[in-house]
Amino acid sequence: MTRLNNKVAIVTGAGQGIGKAIALRLAKEGAIVVATDITGKENETAEEIKKIGGEGMALRLDVTDGKMAEEVAKTVFNKYGHIDILVNNAGIYPFKPFLEMTFEDWYKVINVNLNGVFNVTRAVVPYMVKQKSGRIINIASLAGAVMGFAGLTHYSASKAGIVGFTRALALELARYGITVNAIAPGAISTPGAAAAGSEEQVKMMINIIPMGRLGTPEDIASAVAYLASDEASYITGALIIIDGGWSVT
Ligand SMILES: NC(=O)c1ccc[n+]([C@@H]2O[C@H](COP(=O)([O-])OP(=O)(O)OC[C@H]3O[C@@H](n4cnc5c(N)ncnc54)[C@H](O)[C@@H]3O)[C@@H](O)[C@H]2O)c1
Repeated sequence: MTRLNNKVAIVTGAGQGIGKAIALRLAKEGAIVVATDITGKENETAEEIKKIGGEGMALRLDVTDGKMAEEVAKTVFNKYGHIDILVNNAGIYPFKPFLEMTFEDWYKVINVNLNGVFNVTRAVVPYMVKQKSGRIINIASLAGAVMGFAGLTHYSASKAGIVGFTRALALELARYGITVNAIAPGAISTPGAAAAGSEEQVKMMINIIPMGRLGTPEDIASAVAYLASDEASYITGALIIIDGGWSVT
């Protein structure tokens, strides 16, 4: 697979779960991948990329830190000379009933999930504008962006915000050859999701999902690779739902 040959990609939250699968998939397709995270696990992802014959590196990036995002973008541009793909994947989903929601709960989720997307996109876009090309792919969620989800008002607001941001930015950047799209995953089997939900809840979801299974991180990664490729050059401002049919039940 070579459709992303020599494209330089930055992936946030690439230490585990969906972000890691995206980083590995982009590398398999020929991209030079900069795996970023806050846990140190981004180094393991970069190691795995090398093991499969891919190219790239790991950098620490806390998406809530706009200055750090600027530094990362500068480092990547100085090393490779271009930044072609940005995948805004980092996100948290701490369940909390609205009646128990504190200011801290609310601001933390909005800060990571929504301000984080702004911070990193803001840092990367000037390079893409100069190149007159680029691909921005934002990981939203079924929750908030497509359906209501009890226990996740803060998260839902952040993910609906990502979709609004995606559409508006797509309009502003189309003239520079930059596409901006969002993906809404349904229930995907990841370390984060496993920690958030009980086995009972998983069984309940599998019963509801028409495809009869949870999604895999690779189900999301393959759509990201497509949106990042030349084959998707006329797709912008779109929201791609990947949920095994859950949202159409
Ligand atoms: N798993 C699902 O069912 C599901 C469904 C819909 C949407 N999503 C979205 O997909 C994305 C990835 O989810 P996942 O299930 O792989 O989660 P995960 O918890 O398994 O992994 C998320 C990664 O993001 C990183 N991260 C957290 N805060 C960060 C910060 N401030 N800066 C940089 N990195 C940070 C974590 O360290 C972690 O490595 C999230 O945006 C999530 O909202 C997941």
